[in-house]
Formats: sequence, structure tokens, C-alpha cells
Amino acid sequence: MSSNINNVAVIGTGVIGVGWIIRCLAHNKKVVAYDKELKLEKKLVSEIKRTWPYVKKLFNKKKLNLKNFKYITSIEEALKNADFIQECATENYAIKTKLMSIIGKYAKSNAIISSSSSGLLPTRIYSKCVNPARTMIGHPFNPVYMCPGVEREALHIVNEGYASTKDLDRAIEDGPGLRWSLMGIFLTYHLAGGKKGMKHMLEQFGPALKLPWTKLKAPKLSKKLSSRVIKGTSQQAKGKSVAMISNIRDEYLVNLQKLRKKYENKIRK
Ligand SMILES: NC(=O)c1ccc[n+]([C@@H]2O[C@H](COP(=O)([O-])OP(=O)(O)OC[C@H]3O[C@@H](n4cnc5c(N)ncnc54)[C@H](O)[C@@H]3O)[C@@H](O)[C@H]2O)c1
Repeated sequence: MSSNINNVAVIGTGVIGVGWIIRCLAHNKKVVAYDKELKLEKKLVSEIKRTWPYVKKLFNKKKLNLKNFKYITSIEEALKNADFIQECATENYAIKTKLMSIIGKYAKSNAIISSSSSGLLPTRIYSKCVNPARTMIGHPFNPVYMCPGVEREALHIVNEGYASTKDLDRAIEDGPGLRWSLMGIFLTYHLAGGKKGMKHMLEQFGPALKLPWTKLKAPKLSKKLSSRVIKGTSQQAKGKSVAMISNIRDEYLVNLQKLRKKYENKIRK
């Protein structure tokens, strides 16, 4: 994130929103957060504290400065000073389109507006946002505070000259490549549902499976398939809570990234 950006607003503070908050705090940004559930502050602070030992190690931070974080119960107030806005609300066209029109209205005219959306079309979610030239998709990898990469549409990006294949390889190394070397796709997605686990994750992303992400037609998210996936990931977790698995994952990602840094120069020369 550019050094011209000092004030960040995170709108929607579930799994991904809190990840962006932590990442921005680790980079000394001032962060204000807003969620339609107005009472999430205590939960957020406890998640920030859970992750901080790992963030501290990864970014060589001395201590957590919670003075840089404010939870605000008015969206207008949350947006008014933001240089960069990261929207992290539920993956749903109606919710995001309405939210983006509100964000567009209250944001500074030169603020960058970014959406964490996994698969919704920017043309639709920003269709009611004034001044859409300042908008973009910034789809992160979970855990956002550990994986530096923000995903891209690889072939389109190369085709249109926005990035080289080297940049794209780097995006994979900094994103799912890093994370999937510890846990497979399903356990990763179990954690993507946060404290509510795989069931929450399927409810949110199930409808998005119908979007044209791939040439393969997505299977119907039937009750049978859902329960197979939920049961399978619970068995994989072997009784460990989401917080316990998250701690193991975070410790691993810190050590892996430190090790990678050590060898990076040799590999890239
Ligand atoms: N979970 C993942 O692995 C993952 C990875 C990358 C991107 N994403 C994307 O991030 C976004 C958020 O996903 P999540 O997993 O954090 O979901 P989540 O359910 O954990 O959190 C969503 C939050 O948005 C809030 N919200 C809903 N409507 C709102 C509104 N109008 N104003 C303010 N807040 C509102 C909800 O109260 C909730 O706290 C989605 O667009 C998703 O596609 C998720």
C-alpha cells in the first residue's frame, strides 16, 4: 500500500475485514472500521490481539499500537477522512451495490475504493457509485495479514499489459502457494468461514459458484454435497478449534516467510 495512504477505512469486519485491519495496522496506517453489526468492536480487538504475536514476528514490530484503530458506528463518519477504503461486506450483489452507492457518496472524491469481492462483477457492484474511475477489486488471500498477494485475472492481465508473468508468479507465491503448502484447499476454506467454519463459508459463497469463473460447470451445492464437505473438514480438524488451527497456520506462515526471505536473493538472481 502506497506511503501516500495514511487513513484507511475497512467496511465490513468479518473474517476478511479484520484481516485487512490487522495488515494495515502492521504497516502503521490509521484504520477506522465499520460494520452493520454495530457491536463487533470487542471481538475485533480480541482477534487483533490473537494474531499480533505472529504479525510482530513477521514484520519485526515492537508493540501493537491500538491507538491507530477506531471502531465507528456511523458509516459516514468512518469514510470521511479515508484515503483508501476496503469494502469487505457479505458476497452478495444487492448488499454490495447498495453499500458502494453509500461509500461513493461519503468518500473523499480522490479516495481509492477497493472491494474484497471474490467473484462479483465490478461493473455491477459499482453501478451506483459516483465517480467509478477510483474503484477497483482488491481480492485478498486469507489470512490477509499473512499473505501479501492480492489476486489477479492472470491471462487478462498479461494480455492487457498490466503485469508480467513474473509479477503473476509472485502473486501466487505470496498468496495461495504460500498457504496451500501447509493445508489443502478444504481445510483452508474451512478457516475462510471464520469462527463459524465451513457451514458459514458455503452459505456465503455457494451462490457465487454459478458465476462464470471457469469453463467447468459448478456442481449443484446440494444438501448432500454441503454435509459431505462440512463433515470432511470437521474430521480433518480432529477436534481443534478454528482459533487453534489459525494459530498453527499463522506460526507456520511466519516461519515459512522468514525462511523464504533468506533464500530469496539466491533464487531471484
Ligand atoms: N473468506 C474468505 O476466504 C475470502 C477470501 C477473499 C475474499 N473474500 C471476500 O471478502 C468479503 C467478505 O467475506 P468474509 O468471509 O469476511 O464474510 P463474513 O461473513 O465473515 O463478513 C462479512 C461482514 O460484512 C458485514 N456486512 C454485511 N452487510 C454490510 C453492510 N451493508 N455494511 C457493513 N457491513 C456489512 C457483516 O455484518 C459481516 O460482519 C466477500 O466479498 C468475500 O467474497 C472472502
